[in-house]
Amino acid sequence: MNSKLHEPVLLHEVVNMLNCSPGKSYVDCTLGSGGHAEAILERLGGNGKLIGIDCDESAIAAASDRLQRFGAEFVSIHDNFVNIGDILKRLNVEFVDGILFDLGVSSNQLDEPSRGFSFRNDGPLDMRMDSSLSTSACELVNQLPERDLSELLWNYGEERKSRRIARRIVEARKRKAIRTTKELADIVIKASPSRGRIHPATRTFQALRIAVNRELEMLRDVLERAACLLSAGGRICVISYHSLEDRIVKREFLRLSKSIPVLVSRTCRGELARPNGQASLPLLKLVTKKPVVPSREEMFSNRRCRSAKMRVAERVE
Ligand SMILES: C[S@@+](CC[C@H](N)C(=O)[O-])C[C@H]1O[C@@H](n2cnc3c(N)ncnc32)[C@H](O)[C@@H]1O
Repeated sequence: MNSKLHEPVLLHEVVNMLNCSPGKSYVDCTLGSGGHAEAILERLGGNGKLIGIDCDESAIAAASDRLQRFGAEFVSIHDNFVNIGDILKRLNVEFVDGILFDLGVSSNQLDEPSRGFSFRNDGPLDMRMDSSLSTSACELVNQLPERDLSELLWNYGEERKSRRIARRIVEARKRKAIRTTKELADIVIKASPSRGRIHPATRTFQALRIAVNRELEMLRDVLERAACLLSAGGRICVISYHSLEDRIVKREFLRLSKSIPVLVSRTCRGELARPNGQASLPLLKLVTKKPVVPSREEMFSNRRCRSAKMRVAERVE
């Protein structure tokens, strides 16, 4: 694992938006190397709880090391955040005061060549955040039919040259299996030479990573579950790094901030149903109408935060 720690994005904004103060309890659903978690625990001042979840075992190990001084106030769980309901049940926690999602991969994951996330370092074409997942990027690249590959690049990478890149990948893999990040990046560069500021392989790598880890499905599935676990006035805070994620967060927060027919309500919104059975009460109210973005100073000091957008919503009584 690379020794340089991931720099937490929008750190002060997160801690303030989550109203962190002694006696409260939080879940950091994307613990990473524990930067946000550490700042939250410091605000709890020795009186509170933070449950940190990550699907990457090496992130759990690094964060547990960093946060061990907080003793029983910090609990780490190796799991997918989509299981947040079961995780809290196992810990006998009914409600929490705040939940954080800082989506995507950490710098530690990106910078470690053996994880295969980046076209900037040569390594095996892997991209699994959780190494117990059965499908890696290598399988997708070498086994998906051309049409599915092209759709994947279009849907998850918004790659305009998706068809051409998919065709070149299929031609190349007929000659020899594509096994490394450099081999894939070279094929993409040939199919779509650089014209703008971003590296030509950026969108292809993003798309594969999202597909391997089923990132958008997980995000879609978890937000309502998480909102149901907040105590009244508790907040949910999501930092996303590309428009596909931000769109899901924006739409889900909007949907959960409106009354909806009880019949389509599958989780705790059913319990909030009005006696006449017509519509459930809103679960959330929006705290940020527009997303919070990093300051110019933060963008200057941490390039990776440039695309960050944070949205916050609050559980209504
Ligand atoms: C951007 S990093 C978080 C960095 C963290 N906030 C910090 O300050 O160090 C995202 C982390 O979320 C984890 N992750 C992404 N999707 C996940 C999921 N569905 N379930 C659990 N962890 C996930 C990744 O493994 C990664 O460690």
